[in-house]
Amino acid sequence: MSGWLLLALSGCDRCGGGADSAPDVVLPDSGISEEEEDSLSTPSEPTLNPANFTSAETCKECHPTHYDEWSSSNHAYAMHDPVFRALVAVRQEDLAGEEDLFCTQCHSAIGTRGGDVVPGFSFSDLLDITNEGITCESCHRISTIERTHNAGHVLDETGPIRGPIADPDPSSFHSELAYEPFFEDSSLCGSCHDVIESSGLPLERPYAEWLTSPAAENGQQCQDCHMPSSTGLASTEGVTERTLHSHRFIGVDVPMDGFVDEERAAEIRAGVQELLSAAASVDLQLPESVIVGEQLDVVVNVYNDIPAHNFPTGSTFIRQAWLEVIATDALGQQLYATGDLDENGDLRDHWSDLDPYGDDDLISFSSRFIDSSGSPTMFSHRAAEHVTSAIAPLYSRTYTLFVPTEAAAEGPISVTARLRFRSLPPHLLRKLDQERLLDELVIYDIDAASGLVSLTAEE
Ligand code: HEC
Ligand code: HEC
Ligand code: HEC
Ligand code: HEC
Ligand code: HEC
Repeated sequence: MSGWLLLALSGCDRCGGGADSAPDVVLPDSGISEEEEDSLSTPSEPTLNPANFTSAETCKECHPTHYDEWSSSNHAYAMHDPVFRALVAVRQEDLAGEEDLFCTQCHSAIGTRGGDVVPGFSFSDLLDITNEGITCESCHRISTIERTHNAGHVLDETGPIRGPIADPDPSSFHSELAYEPFFEDSSLCGSCHDVIESSGLPLERPYAEWLTSPAAENGQQCQDCHMPSSTGLASTEGVTERTLHSHRFIGVDVPMDGFVDEERAAEIRAGVQELLSAAASVDLQLPESVIVGEQLDVVVNVYNDIPAHNFPTGSTFIRQAWLEVIATDALGQQLYATGDLDENGDLRDHWSDLDPYGDDDLISFSSRFIDSSGSPTMFSHRAAEHVTSAIAPLYSRTYTLFVPTEAAAEGPISVTARLRFRSLPPHLLRKLDQERLLDELVIYDIDAASGLVSLTAEE
């Protein structure tokens, strides 16, 4: 039996959203089952020629700021990411090459549609333009959005570069530029930021979450938060002041393995901390006093402050978002802990090598895959079910934790709750033989709350 109780409240006076009634939800089947061969995003015959695409290195000359921001973004990292490469290798081995184009269809649509990514491919043999991942022209050559999942966009390899400026200045490079209103719209992002497994199992659904969110109702787009604006020239050759949009695409992840230098990594981490600090919050309700030996009820509220999508969102099955609650007496002696880490730095859940399921009370907001035999798995192609504990936009949850006080020597009892986030768990890096990356993992504290409870003697 888990030691916490979830209170289902009918309203939320703080955020105007509501309270979630259940922590664990089995995501319903998407109803979208990809054809064995998807002629748009994973065609068996090439539908474009990668040679028709220009490297970001060429754009750098006239768009140095856009280039600089993009080059250290996760979009530039998408095909270099060692975790991506290691997960693809597991899938290639398990499925004997049968679905080798599945993972690359968004991470490099150019290489996947261009016949460069073929069954049995290895990353080191791919063209440079394929390994550029989500490069400038992966977005700026999108001509139509056919569907908002699984790389549901059309790439126009010979037409004009497209973008958000209706009246572009003349340039010596672009003979033609085309204004496309969807560059200011979430649907562009949704064409990739909605991932459905080939089995139909929903994997990542920020766009679908946004569609029914208060943000969508108010016309707030992904770009408004993930591409913050400034004013300046859009090109070194431009003459008109423009509203510019950051191409850093800050999320929760920092490219690892030397992809960015330490100075840039520190800047991105600061951006992640800022984004996460706006994501969610936590508060505590404590009684004024407790009688020694009696149970102390600690009420914790967690709020998703994002109007646009769940907290957490995206690849929630590898992310970790959890609550750490620690109670100590006045001598510093620990009375209670949940959400603390084992010696390997792992949460004490199913995946802990040292204390599996040791943390009965663990409150996690991440998601998990269950395979057909009912066991947890980290791999989406082995999953039969996807269970999520994420909180819906502007919703909150209330938990009550029961702290034993028998061992308390001296009052007051101090209780601290921290809402914590990590983009990858150490156990996954170990499983994928990526131990060298362990030192790069960062835990962000999103919010914290604490309080004191005085200790009264037994009557
Ligand atoms: C020789 C200089 C030069 C090079 C090289 C160059 N551009 Fe441009 N680009 C410009 C100028 C000038 C503009 C217009 C800026 C303005 O109107 O403020 C522009 C505008 C754009 C726009 C906005 C278009 C719109 O209508 O919204 C995009 C997108 C763009 N370029 C992408 C690229 C990409 C991708 C590359 C590399 C394949 C590239 N550019 C290479 C000079 C250049
Ligand atoms: C109101 C601001 C806001 C808007 C609008 C918004 N986001 Fe976010 N997004 C956040 C915050 C805050 C986080 C960090 C917390 C989290 O991961 O949920 C985040 C995180 C993310 C992440 C990283 C998730 C992870 O854990 O890997 C992705 C991907 C993402 N957003 C995509 C989108 C997409 C796609 C849209 C549009 C459909 C969108 N966001 C709209 C604020 C916003
Ligand atoms: C993931 C998709 C994506 C990638 C990759 C991308 N862009 Fe953009 N770009 C956009 C979007 C979306 C906008 C418009 C945002 C808005 O108006 O809200 C934009 C806007 C622009 C503009 C117009 C000025 C501005 O800042 O709004 C230029 C110029 C531009 N991009 C150049 C580039 C160059 C050069 C690269 C590669 C180094 C690049 N982009 C990579 C999505 C992308
Ligand atoms: C062509 C597919 C594609 C399009 C279009 C696209 N993205 Fe992405 N995006 C990705 C992939 C793939 C990644 C993850 C790359 C990696 O780290 O391996 C990503 C990563 C991100 C991240 C970083 C998430 C993190 O965990 O840190 C953010 C933020 C983001 N995208 C926002 C956007 C926004 C906003 C748009 C629309 C303007 C957009 N993306 C359009 C494919 C795409
Ligand atoms: C429909 C498009 C799409 C497909 C297909 C896809 N991805 Fe992604 N992937 C994304 C987007 C978008 C993100 C960014 C989401 C986020 O950061 O939460 C992402 C992020 C990731 C990340 C996180 C990067 C990091 O290091 O934290 C990994 C790893 C990853 N994908 C692996 C895979 C694997 C393995 C497959 C095949 C099973 C796959 N992806 C298939 C779009 C896709």
